[in-house]
Amino acid sequence: MAPKHTLLTPLLALIAFNPLLSPAKVLTSLDQLTQKTYDFVIIGGGTAGSALANRLTENKNVCVLVVEAGDNNVGNLNIEVPFLGVALPGTSVDWNFTTVPQPGLNGRTIPYTRGFVLGGSSSVNLLTYHRGSDDVWDRWAQISGDSGWNWKSVEKYYLKSSRLVPPADGRNVAGLENPKVHGNGPVEVSVPGFPVATDDIILKSAKQLGGRFAFHEDFNDGTVLGIGYMQSTIGEGQRSSGATAYLNPVFSRSNLDVLVNTHVTKLINTAAAKKTPIMNKVELVQSRTSPRVQVSAKKEVILSAGVIGTPQLLQLSGIGNPADLATVGIPTLVNLPEVGYNLADHPLLANYFQVQSNSTFDDILRDNNLFGQTLGEWQTEKQGQFVDSPGNTLGFFRLPPGSPAFKGIQDPAAGPKSGHTELIFVDGFAQFGSVTQPTQGHFVSVLSAVVSPTSRGTVKLASQDPFTAPLINPNFFATQFDIQAMTQAIHDALTFMATPLWQSSSFKPTPFGDVANATTDAQKEQFIRNRSVNVNHPVGTARMSKSGGVVDSSLRVKGVQGLRVVDASIFPVIPESHTQGPVYIVAERAADLIKAAYNLY
Ligand SMILES: Cc1cc2nc3c(=O)[nH]c(=O)nc-3n(C[C@H](O)[C@H](O)[C@H](O)COP(=O)(O)OP(=O)(O)OC[C@H]3O[C@@H](n4cnc5c(N)ncnc54)[C@H](O)[C@@H]3O)c2cc1C
Ligand SMILES: *[C@@H]1O[C@H](CO)[C@@H](O)[C@H](O)[C@H]1NC(C)=O
Ligand SMILES: *[C@@H]1O[C@H](CO)[C@@H](O)[C@H](O)[C@H]1NC(C)=O
Ligand SMILES: *[C@@H]1O[C@H](CO)[C@@H](O)[C@H](O)[C@H]1NC(C)=O
Ligand SMILES: *[C@@H]1O[C@H](CO)[C@@H](O)[C@H](O)[C@H]1NC(C)=O
Repeated sequence: MAPKHTLLTPLLALIAFNPLLSPAKVLTSLDQLTQKTYDFVIIGGGTAGSALANRLTENKNVCVLVVEAGDNNVGNLNIEVPFLGVALPGTSVDWNFTTVPQPGLNGRTIPYTRGFVLGGSSSVNLLTYHRGSDDVWDRWAQISGDSGWNWKSVEKYYLKSSRLVPPADGRNVAGLENPKVHGNGPVEVSVPGFPVATDDIILKSAKQLGGRFAFHEDFNDGTVLGIGYMQSTIGEGQRSSGATAYLNPVFSRSNLDVLVNTHVTKLINTAAAKKTPIMNKVELVQSRTSPRVQVSAKKEVILSAGVIGTPQLLQLSGIGNPADLATVGIPTLVNLPEVGYNLADHPLLANYFQVQSNSTFDDILRDNNLFGQTLGEWQTEKQGQFVDSPGNTLGFFRLPPGSPAFKGIQDPAAGPKSGHTELIFVDGFAQFGSVTQPTQGHFVSVLSAVVSPTSRGTVKLASQDPFTAPLINPNFFATQFDIQAMTQAIHDALTFMATPLWQSSSFKPTPFGDVANATTDAQKEQFIRNRSVNVNHPVGTARMSKSGGVVDSSLRVKGVQGLRVVDASIFPVIPESHTQGPVYIVAERAADLIKAAYNLY
């Protein structure tokens, strides 16, 4: 939604070529590798990969190589400035994936952003932070048959991964967050540092309305319901990511090599014929045509390539569903039918409201001078509109008890502390989807999402070529539940924006565009199918499960040795919250499981 700004180009060049900012131990070429054998090779320097690399190299005797397809994160202003994160999709730090045509979206395809840079998707995401409700983790324990995944057991990993820091403006936020439920880890988390006039109306309306809309002080206290301040991975007005929190601070460790601009093209079996495959060797390449190099792991290869890259690499290596592998001519090494299946994501729909007040951020996006001033304020003081992502407040809601969505199905939410839908309030026109910002007028956007979707999709190979994007099918709105839940979310947005406080304020919001026209539920369904995009929360393509699934409860790939998966693809079900928090928790627990397996404390 932020315009491509000419001002950014010279600034970016200035920062990118400042040698003082380039970290010491990032290797950019395969020639710089001094060894071909490490204890662990981590594929993907993303959210999980960064955290894991940090924890495993705490022990000086453990030698780790991280291989990242994308570039270094340092020096990209759109990554650092929270408000400008929305400008990252479709740039050099995005894999630029697109879905296959979605029947549930009236045949549309949509972009499928994934981070292509150190820090992975935590370097390009919209920063909202949740650790997930207690229910989410207790359900994981049940599915995996391992009580080590229940909330009581993973709480220590949550506390190790993040910490609450003051908002950028340092104001008193007592009652708007609960410091008691936060930890002392490296990822910085804060409430908005640039409060806007709508925040107050939203929080007061929540207190007035109560019930499903009740005010919630802190979404990281175990229950994720009601309306409150968003907490985001922001510290001192800047993005806190896997790269900035976990990886950059340990670049100087001599037992860690981080190699960027390098693709892993497959995993190699080193076991004797007819023995259980040992997948402890990887093939690396810097471009489609350059020479391929092999690197071995004495202990394990760890796949942290994310929800698209991980199943793609398993399939390229012959680990997957035999029928799917045969389609692209890859012989099956290990029959694991669920590789690339169970893809779940949160669909998102932008509902726009026109407002009377001109205090929204709309003018900043239209006026180059105002944009430059606001960016200047960020650069000189780390203050102002750009210290936050575009959303300051949000809410999660359970469907009303008698909702028709529940007809014939079991409630898909993890439990009573989890919602079915989400609303994110944005103090301006947030472009999520095909409707562009009007040239005039002021807006509040209410982004609605289904957070307990029942649709499931797939990631499959399109070709044997590791550089060909896989076929990504999130299968949005394949179920009536998902349509009915989103329909309820639109009703909730309309109800909430009509409260007396809103209507007596200077804003006086009125529905705008599609949401105004879609008066019947049948029209709402068409609005949903025509306009929805996604929140970019895909999970599940290498699902953890006691029976079936792809990995066991210690995240080891079933049917092989020497290979683990540590990223969002192992999630057995999609959490009813944003996903980066749970990814850090998974990485922290995985680090402990690995240390225990090899006695590395
Ligand atoms: C646009 C966007 C907005 C989002 N907003 C939010 C939000 O507000 N809040 C939230 O909680 N979550 C959000 N998310 C989701 C969240 O960021 C992800 O769930 C999480 O970061 C995933 O972590 P991961 O470790 O599984 O994968 P990633 O962080 O994506 O890491 C995978 C890494 O592997 C690398 N890789 C892949 N294949 C290869 C290969 N073959 N060789 C070498 N390297 C490879 C990739 O380049 C990448 O760096 C958002 C995501 C996106 C994309
Ligand atoms: C994504 O597309 C943009 C715009 O075409 C391009 O500049 C960028 O290099 C692409 N990203 C990758 C990883 O190829
Ligand atoms: C916003 O409205 C106020 C009051 O009507 C006016 O004084 C001010 O100039 C307006 N600001 C902009 C940027 O239009
Ligand atoms: C809403 O309906 C009006 C009247 O039929 C039409 O002119 C307008 O284009 C519609 N807007 C949208 C966004 O569909
Ligand atoms: C949805 O899209 C179809 C096809 O483009 C169009 O005919 C229809 O009017 C749209 N409906 C709504 C409610 O936007």
